[in-house]
Amino acid sequence: MIHGPNLNLLGRREPEVYGTATLEEVDRRLAERAAALGVELETVQSNHEGEIVDAIQAAAGRFDAIVINPGAFTHYSIAIRDALAAVGLPAVEVHLSNIAAREPFRRRSVIAPVCRGTVAGFGPLSYLLGLEAAAALARPQG
Ligand code: DQA
Repeated sequence: MIHGPNLNLLGRREPEVYGTATLEEVDRRLAERAAALGVELETVQSNHEGEIVDAIQAAAGRFDAIVINPGAFTHYSIAIRDALAAVGLPAVEVHLSNIAAREPFRRRSVIAPVCRGTVAGFGPLSYLLGLEAAAALARPQG
């Protein structure tokens, strides 16, 4: 699970848009769901594009799928898009908010075309649904 920029501020950051759950709480819920699904989960948060690229590259050979909330990089990071395309792991894009219903600059994701699917608009539940999808994609039998 890769959390992008400003998601370390969850709970305090624009709570009317992103809710009041902290990243720690979201990660705890993800860990519980991963255990219930019987999958191993590693979680990383970074405010830096290059570090996210490094994390994606490092996932190759270590993990079977990637769940990513690229934050604002969603809308313009060709480097993150290229990294996901390069490693070729099944990836699921998640967003707390419904980016399709927000400002025009948030409606386009340059990441979506290299992901298997996107979950957006359900707050922390987006992450849990994204994890479920990734777990299913990671299993050869689906
Ligand atoms: C976000 C949506 C992005 O537009 C924004 O820049 C974020 C959070 C979301 O989860 O809703 O940082 O990815």
